[in-house]
Amino acid sequence: MENKRERVEGNTKDPQEKLPFNDRKESIYSEILTGLKLEQKELPPKYFYDEKGSALFDQICGLEEYYPTRTETEILTENIDEIVDSIHSNSVIIEYGSGSSIKTKILLDNLPDLGTYIPVDISYSHLHKSAKALQSRYPNLKIIPVTADYTKNFDLPSIASKTKKNTVFFPGSTIGNFYPKQAIAFLKKVANQVGSGGGLIIGIDLKKDPQILNLAYNDSQGITEKFNLNMLSNINSILGSNFNLDNFRHFAEYNLQFGRIEMHLVSKVDQMVSIGEEEITFENGENLLTEVSYKYSLEEIQEIADQSGFTLRKSWVDEKKYFSVNCLTID
Ligand code: AVI
Repeated sequence: MENKRERVEGNTKDPQEKLPFNDRKESIYSEILTGLKLEQKELPPKYFYDEKGSALFDQICGLEEYYPTRTETEILTENIDEIVDSIHSNSVIIEYGSGSSIKTKILLDNLPDLGTYIPVDISYSHLHKSAKALQSRYPNLKIIPVTADYTKNFDLPSIASKTKKNTVFFPGSTIGNFYPKQAIAFLKKVANQVGSGGGLIIGIDLKKDPQILNLAYNDSQGITEKFNLNMLSNINSILGSNFNLDNFRHFAEYNLQFGRIEMHLVSKVDQMVSIGEEEITFENGENLLTEVSYKYSLEEIQEIADQSGFTLRKSWVDEKKYFSVNCLTID
């Protein structure tokens, strides 16, 4: 039997480590200040996911009110034969996200002849931990973890460019956290990456009764509230700012006009927050937008597929039509 550890062979160093800490901090600082100086103050949702935020997100995924995770898992389980049939047999699977979840296992359990699996994630440690765990479950699978921000341009290992018929697996409806123009630009990038004959299996949350959506982002245990507020303590620990979490409250509501959930932190008082050299003022009641989560209709999914050069082959949905798993291909 081959040495299992040797098979986990993507980038062996965290590429972020190449940057001196002060440079990384500098770019985070300017990104955050840019958002806080907008008329509608806004912070990028990626700052939710420090260790505590990732653990809170895992808790959200298990909440009764937060239907997306269990519904997507149910759709994948019930339709897995058809889903794997839609994947080219010589395919390399590229997963955007760390790929440690139950959804990855549903897919890989049902692709016994798959040769190569490439999980792509921004967190080096999270990615390598989950790749190691997957390697022991699938000893014959070549797993090549790639540490990269998949929303930006990055290089795939050469095997993926040789095979051409790549399939990207992108569960979780993370595409909902992109503004529509970003979503199209992202899908075009994926289309380019998988090449002709390739495909995309993507989970997308569907439009539904706003009451169900509002409950999903305002859970009764207050986990989403903690998740939202934690962004401020993450920013405090990266930049040494002095956001006082007690001075903000969680607010999330479905915006019918834009077809999206908007998560805000609302200032409870008139206040001033110091970030480096800068002071940012918040008025009592002022909103800071921390996340948008777009919901799509099946027609809109067809439209974004068309606009990005994909052909929508099939959408699998649950009985209540809450969530969809879609197969898009490049002819
Ligand atoms: C990661 N993303 C798809 C989640 C969503 O539903 O938009 C993030 C989330 N925010 C609050 N709850 C979950």
